[in-house]
This record gives sequence, C-alpha cells and structure tokens, in this order.
Amino acid sequence: MTLWQGRFSTGPSDELMAFTESLSIDRQLWKQDIQGSLAHVAGLEVAGILSESDVAVLISALHQVESEMTRGDFIPEGDEDIHSAVERRVTEIAGDIGAKLHTGRSRNDQIATDMRLFVKSALVGVSNDTLALAEVLGDLAEAAGDAYLPGYTHTQRAQPVLVAHHMLAHGWALLRDLDRMADAYRRTDVSPLGAGALGGSTLPLQPDFVAAQLGFGSRFQNSLDAVSDRDFVAETLFVLATIGIHLSRIGEEIVIWSTEEFGFVRLDDAYSTGSSMLPHKKNPDIAELARGKTGRLVGNLTAFLVTLKGLPLSYNRDLQEDKEPLFDSIKTITLALKAISGMLSSASFDFARMRQAADSEALVAIDLAEFLVLKGVPFRRAHGIVGGIVRDSIERRVPVAELVAAHPQLGPEAADIVAPGGAIRRRMTPGGSGKEAVSEQMRDFKERVGLERKRINDLL
Ligand code: ARG
Repeated sequence: MTLWQGRFSTGPSDELMAFTESLSIDRQLWKQDIQGSLAHVAGLEVAGILSESDVAVLISALHQVESEMTRGDFIPEGDEDIHSAVERRVTEIAGDIGAKLHTGRSRNDQIATDMRLFVKSALVGVSNDTLALAEVLGDLAEAAGDAYLPGYTHTQRAQPVLVAHHMLAHGWALLRDLDRMADAYRRTDVSPLGAGALGGSTLPLQPDFVAAQLGFGSRFQNSLDAVSDRDFVAETLFVLATIGIHLSRIGEEIVIWSTEEFGFVRLDDAYSTGSSMLPHKKNPDIAELARGKTGRLVGNLTAFLVTLKGLPLSYNRDLQEDKEPLFDSIKTITLALKAISGMLSSASFDFARMRQAADSEALVAIDLAEFLVLKGVPFRRAHGIVGGIVRDSIERRVPVAELVAAHPQLGPEAADIVAPGGAIRRRMTPGGSGKEAVSEQMRDFKERVGLERKRINDLL
C-alpha cells in the first residue's frame, strides 16, 4: 500500500514496488519512526492544529503500534517504507483520526529525523565499544610493565620500545576516533522535523518544540538543507571506516606477531580457528577479518559519497541509499570491536621472545650516534662513524659491543648503551619510549579514558 494513490489512476506496478521499496531495509527504524510521530503529534497539539481528544487517540494508537511491533504482532508487509507502514496501522486502529497523523509533515523531514535519531544512538553504541577496546589496550600496556620489543619502520627492526608504549599507540588512535564520534554526534544532533517536504508549512508548526521533545540540541535553520543533508551519514561512515582501518592495522600486526617466525603472541583457543584439513593449524581469523572487512567499511563510505555527489536540492530519492551502507558499517564495526577486544584481552604475549628480538645490538645505533653528538661530533659525522661500526660488525662478524669498546670516541663509557635494555633506560624525551615518559603517558591516557567514559555514560 502507498500513501499517494489519490493522483494516480492505477496502482503501482510490481516492478516499481520491488525496485523502489525501502521497507525491507528501513523497518529497522520503526522505534525512531514512532518516536518521531509521537513528538510530531504533540507539536500539532501545541500548535492548536489537533484537538486534545484527537491527540489522545493518535498517541494511544502509536503506543499500540509500538507494543504490537515489540511483540511481533504487527509485521509490516507490502508497504512502501516504514513510515507508510506505521501510518497505515495507526489508521487501521484510529480510523479517520489516524488520517490526521501526517498533517504538516512529509516523509522527507520524517526520514531525516528517523535517521538522525538512529545515528545519534549508534554513535553512542560504537563509542562505548571503541572505548572498551581502548581500555583493553590500556590494561595490556599496564600489564606489560618494563617489557620491550623492537619498534619497526618499513617492517625492519628500528629501535627497542616499551610494549606499553606500543599498546598505547593503538589506544591513542582509538581515542581520536572517539573524539571524531563526539564531533559527528554534535552535528547530527539537529532536528529536521518541521521542514516539511522542502519548504516548511502554512500551518503554525513548532519545530523548536518537537526538537526538544526528541532530545535534539537544536532545530534546522533551512528547510531545504534539512531534507537534503546527509552529511551526518557520510561523516559517520568515515569515522566507522577509520576505526576499521585502525582495527585492520592491529589485525595485521597480530597476524605477523602470531607467526612461528615472530612468536610474539599466542592467541587464546576461544579466539582462534582451526583448519579443516591440517590438524596442527591455529589461525588468527579475527585479526584477518578485521583487516578484510575494512574493505566493506571503506566501500560503504565511497558508495555513499558517490550517491551524494551532484544531487540537486532538495530531497531526491537517491538519498534512500543512505541506509544499507550505514546499517552494514555499524553492524560490521560493532562485531569487529568486540571480537578484537576479546582476542587481545585473552592473548598471551611472549615478552622473552620480544626482548630477545629487541636486544639485537644494531638497534642502539642511533643511541651511539647521539652519544657522540653530546661529545660535540656533528650528527652527520656521528651517523657515518656508527654506520661504519655496524658495517664492520657484519662484515668481520665481530659484536658491535666489542667494536664500541675499542673505538677511540666511544670506548667503555658507551658500554651501557650497548648493554641489553640500554636503549629503554636512556630514552628521556616526553612522549617517547623511555620509562618515565611512558608512565606519564599512561596517566594521561587513563585520564582521557575516564573523561570519555563519563561523556558516554551521560549519553547512554
Ligand atoms: N524511503 C524514503 C527514504 O528512505 C523515505 C522518504 C521518501 N520520500 C519521498 N518523497 N518519496 O529516503
């Protein structure tokens, strides 16, 4: 059934309905749709458009639809979209009074309202799961104590870094995602209800009142923009894709770390999979799918940006294509965040193996060069001297420590640099991988996590 038969001599073709219907997708929005209708009806009463008794009938019909849908007694079918379905059911319940529900409203401001309500609560849900993962990383950092591993650039061993520093690096990326979600939330928190089809209404609607009823921070400024704007969907898709990219980088690392060649981590059985053929295999599928599913997240963002590109003002049916990518990205990232959190919090990290890899002598080359700098050697010359020592060590198979001890500008004074753990002991810059800097960083991280926890709990 459609809401617009009046002007048409025949009903819609099956092909039209099959191609254009959105009920199969937007039925997920039924709660937001009813919530929006309740506020709209309250607004019509304040505006003096509906009588108290009409309002009572409509509100009770809407509540009835709500409980029928909760119980599964009303399962919309054959309607064009969720708005048509709810209005049809209200009219079945309330007769002619039900036919007053859509007064002063269009599905254009209605769907924009539903979507904003949905995105607001999704952003809070995803923020909660993102924060939970940041907390896991904070806990892993704390549990790692003084353990260190090689830090890599170009996937080549570069410098020893504290495991805590490494874990927190991923944690800070997630805190930026939380910040982006808070920011997207702020721009989503604007009510479009009362914009009508595109140009407002001749009825004395109350957009400020309905905005407040729905818990929006403010209402639209421009009715054309209100029904056209889907920036909040695009922004959300971008943030979700960015979280996915962060998870894919963690995933890639876990894939590498869990190889026998690296052996830095052993995944818990409950968070690993086996092979149907090779009895000995234990595979890091969560990590791989965190990497793999990020393709969809980026694809959803790209697809929707292309949908928006070139659309003239104001509402165009193309905008209906906002739902599938959004719903898919929210579901995908929610599952991924929970799986990665479980995988990481149950994993065992092999600190001895990490230390062994990090104690490889060449990783202190920069520290030796900086030792020379402090003695007045220009950096480029110091770089050359130490590079020569490393080359010599490789070519003549002599330990770096021996060459350092024998070197006139380095000597016994530089012995501590080459000793195991020397690189960590000597690091001193703020934000760097030295012990003091990392404990300071840990304090700041925990403080940020606490602030985010409070912000999210206030919204939950
Ligand atoms: N299903 C539509 C959407 O998701 C609802 C709005 C339809 N508006 C219209 N004028 N056909 O965008």
